[in-house]
Amino acid sequence: MENVDLSKEGLVGWLEENDEQRVKALLDSAYNIKAKNIGTKVFLRGLIELSNKCSKNCCYCGIRNANKSVARYELSEEQVLDAALFAWKANYGSLVLQAGERTSLAYVKKVTHLVQQIKHLSNGELGITLSLGEQESDVYKEWFDAGAHRYLLRIESSNPDLYAKIHPRDGHHSWERRLKAILDLKDIGYQTGTGVMIGMPYQTSEDLADDLLFMKNIGIHMVGMGPYLKHSQTPMGELYNEEPNLELSLKMVALLRHLMPRINIAATTAMQVIDKYGREKAIMAGANIIMPNMTITEVRKEYQIYENKPGIEDDAAISKGKLEENLRTQGIEIGWMEWGDSKAFGDSLQMKNKYL
Ligand code: 5AD
Ligand code: SF4
Repeated sequence: MENVDLSKEGLVGWLEENDEQRVKALLDSAYNIKAKNIGTKVFLRGLIELSNKCSKNCCYCGIRNANKSVARYELSEEQVLDAALFAWKANYGSLVLQAGERTSLAYVKKVTHLVQQIKHLSNGELGITLSLGEQESDVYKEWFDAGAHRYLLRIESSNPDLYAKIHPRDGHHSWERRLKAILDLKDIGYQTGTGVMIGMPYQTSEDLADDLLFMKNIGIHMVGMGPYLKHSQTPMGELYNEEPNLELSLKMVALLRHLMPRINIAATTAMQVIDKYGREKAIMAGANIIMPNMTITEVRKEYQIYENKPGIEDDAAISKGKLEENLRTQGIEIGWMEWGDSKAFGDSLQMKNKYL
C-alpha cells in the first residue's frame, strides 16, 4: 500500500477512516511489516491472576477496592506453583503474574519468593512477566533480581487530563507517578510494556494518536491495549459510552506496528470479549503475543475487571485447547518453548553495548 502517514494528523485520519478497503489495506500492511521484521509466530504467556485484592479505585475497573460485591481471593503459593508447572509442562515459554496493586512488605516478599520458585521449578526455562502495578523502584529491582524480566504497566491514557477524569482525585492515582514507574522499570532493565484503553468516555481520536506517539517516544518494548468495556459496578459504567468497536482497536494495533515494527504487541482478551475471534484478528493486524488464562477455574469469575470476561467456566487446559484450535483454523503458528522476547528490547541492548 502507499506510504502510511504516521504524523499525528495522519494517525487521526486513519483512526477515523471508514472505507473498508482502505482499512483492510492498513491492517494487511501491518501484518506484512510484522512478518518482515519479527516473523509471523505468535508467542504465548500463560496468565496467572494471583489475587484480585487491590488498594486502588480506578473508575473503570470491576475489582476496584470500593466494589464490595467482589469476593476477594489470593492464591496460595502451592496453587501458583501448580499453575506454573502446568504451563511449563505444556511447553509455554513464559508466564505473566498479574494482580491488583498492593505494596505491603509481606506481599512484596511473597512475590519475590514466587518468582524465585518458578525459576527454580522450571530450570530457569519459564520467562516471567509481572503485572503488579506501581511499586517503588527498589521493589521492582528486587523482583528483577529474583528472575522476572518483563513488566507490564499501562499508562491507560497518555493524556494527563483524561487520566485525571478516569481516576479518583484521592492522591493515590497520579499520571506523573505512573509515568515515573514505567521509566523506572526501563532503567532497571526490564522489558517494559505499557498500553491504553481504547474508546473510553471523553477520549478523542487525537488522544489515541497521542497514545501511539507516546509509546514510540518513550521507546517502549511491549504494548497491550484493548477496548474499554463497561462494568456496571463502577462509576464509569454509569456514563454513556458508544458500543465498543473492535475495528478501532485493530486500527490502533496496525498503526502501532507501522510506528514500531520490532516491539511485542499483545492481542488482548478484551478484544475477544467483543468478537470471538478478536485476538486472532489482532494477530492478523500486526500483534504477536497472546496471554491465555491459566488461573484455576474457582476464582476466574472473581477477576472481572470488565463484565462478560470469556472462559470463566474453563480451566487452563480448556483455555489452551480452545486457543490452539482457533489459531490452527487461522493458520497461525505458535512459538512453543520460546520466550519470544521483544526484538526492540534486544536492539536497544545492542545499541548500548555498541556506544556505551
Ligand atoms: N475495560 C477494559 N480494560 C480494563 N482494564 C481495567 N478495567 C477495564 C475495563 N473496564 C484494564 C486496564 C488495566 C488492565 C489490568 O485492565 O487497562 O491496566
Ligand atoms: Fe486495581 Fe488495576 Fe483495577 Fe486499577 S485497574 S482498580 S489498579 S486492578
